[in-house]
Amino acid sequence: MSSLQLLTLVLLVSTVAIPVVTCRQWCMAMPGTSDEQLQANIDFGCSNGVDCTPIQPGGTCYVPNTLFDHASYVMNAYYQSHGRIEDACSQNVDCTPIQPGGTCYDPNTLLDHASFAMNAYYQSHGRTEDACRFEEENIKTLRSMSRERIKRELPPVQEHIDKLRKVVEEGNYYGALQMYKSISARYVTAQRFSEALDILFSGACIELEHGLVNCGADLAILFVDTLVKAKSPCNDEALDRIRFIFKLFPRVPVPPHLVDVSDDEDVQNLQESLGEARSRVENLTSFLRAAIKWSAEFGGPRTGYPELHAMLGDYLYTECPELDMVRISRHFVRAEDPEKFASMLVNFMGRCYPGEDDLAIARAVLMYLSMGNMKDANFMMDEIKKQAETKNPELSESDLIQFISYLLETLQRDALPLFNMLRVKYKSSIDRDQLLNELLDEIAERFYGVQRKNPLQGMFGDIFKMMG
Ligand SMILES: *[C@@H]1O[C@H](CO)[C@@H](O)[C@H](O)[C@H]1NC(C)=O
Repeated sequence: MSSLQLLTLVLLVSTVAIPVVTCRQWCMAMPGTSDEQLQANIDFGCSNGVDCTPIQPGGTCYVPNTLFDHASYVMNAYYQSHGRIEDACSQNVDCTPIQPGGTCYDPNTLLDHASFAMNAYYQSHGRTEDACRFEEENIKTLRSMSRERIKRELPPVQEHIDKLRKVVEEGNYYGALQMYKSISARYVTAQRFSEALDILFSGACIELEHGLVNCGADLAILFVDTLVKAKSPCNDEALDRIRFIFKLFPRVPVPPHLVDVSDDEDVQNLQESLGEARSRVENLTSFLRAAIKWSAEFGGPRTGYPELHAMLGDYLYTECPELDMVRISRHFVRAEDPEKFASMLVNFMGRCYPGEDDLAIARAVLMYLSMGNMKDANFMMDEIKKQAETKNPELSESDLIQFISYLLETLQRDALPLFNMLRVKYKSSIDRDQLLNELLDEIAERFYGVQRKNPLQGMFGDIFKMMG
């Protein structure tokens, strides 16, 4: 093997090794290693004595922020501290040239330093094939660094849970996060899913209880990922835990947008709390979306378990600084709770979005209808009319609401010509929102078999929009 081949083949090294005076072996992740394995190695190292703060945001080795680089850091640190390589370059290579000030210090990159050391070793060992052994050995070992350890007995899971709880209570939230991830990963690798789920559930709850929303969300998502890996059915045991986690997401009154802010400090505070609210919403959304997907795949309805849609719709409505009624409605029409949806729309009427009230109601009813759900569409319309009588007496005079009322009656009958006439007569109201036209096309197809011009926009388009 030529030294050039060796250099390209062997990529060992990491930052921590460079200041080390005696020449040791460096290691880094093998290029091409899967992200999953890289993450498993990070998790393994971080929970086995490697100080992982340097790869946290703000840490000295955070940049470059790639899984590959972070894994390399951890893997190398683990290797160095465990002195596992005895037969490699440890005695026979002079590494002073790549120490600061040395003749080969520049270019000061891990790759160059590693290459120097590897090549020096190779040369000094008579360029035998055997001299490449460390390459084989290291890289193979490194790619599956955590696997060999898995075979060892894993301690009872409650020990971890108690220990990690203490770590959080001491305020080491991010350290605990890494440990939750890595320890649960070991159970996952050992196919012991229920213990992994116990650890992740506990971690998500404890982090959220301490107000660490993004750590909690991270673990909550991992919890759902693990449900998927375990192929756990969408049953009450799993759902109860999801419900429990959901309730721990903070609900903070969002300051009204048009609040009277008189000085810069107020403006800044307002911006900060809006930013935090957006993060919370983003974090909860990632968690519940994953849960909806899991529920759809493992035994729930094809569009996801209704209650999960209700949770997400509700949180988006009460917590999101930017109300997006379309997005909220897409969840609520799948939530099988038209009463709550109706109350929400009535509540929305009081929130001063002039001209949006009837539009939000029309969209909601049409969404139900486009899914073929006549019952909830009718229920919703009746309920809103009843509840809105005192709050917004003009509502029933809206052209759009009149259209919806006629439409509901028309659909009870097999009356396509009437349906088409209504669409023409109320065109200007319907055209207020392109979505209404799309929904009406879907309704025409579902109720009267009218082919849509662009069928892809229908059912699947809707689901993509919802999840995207
Ligand atoms: C949580 O929110 C923060 C801030 O917006 C974001 O950086 C992070 O990626 C989010 N985490 C998840 C799991 O959504």
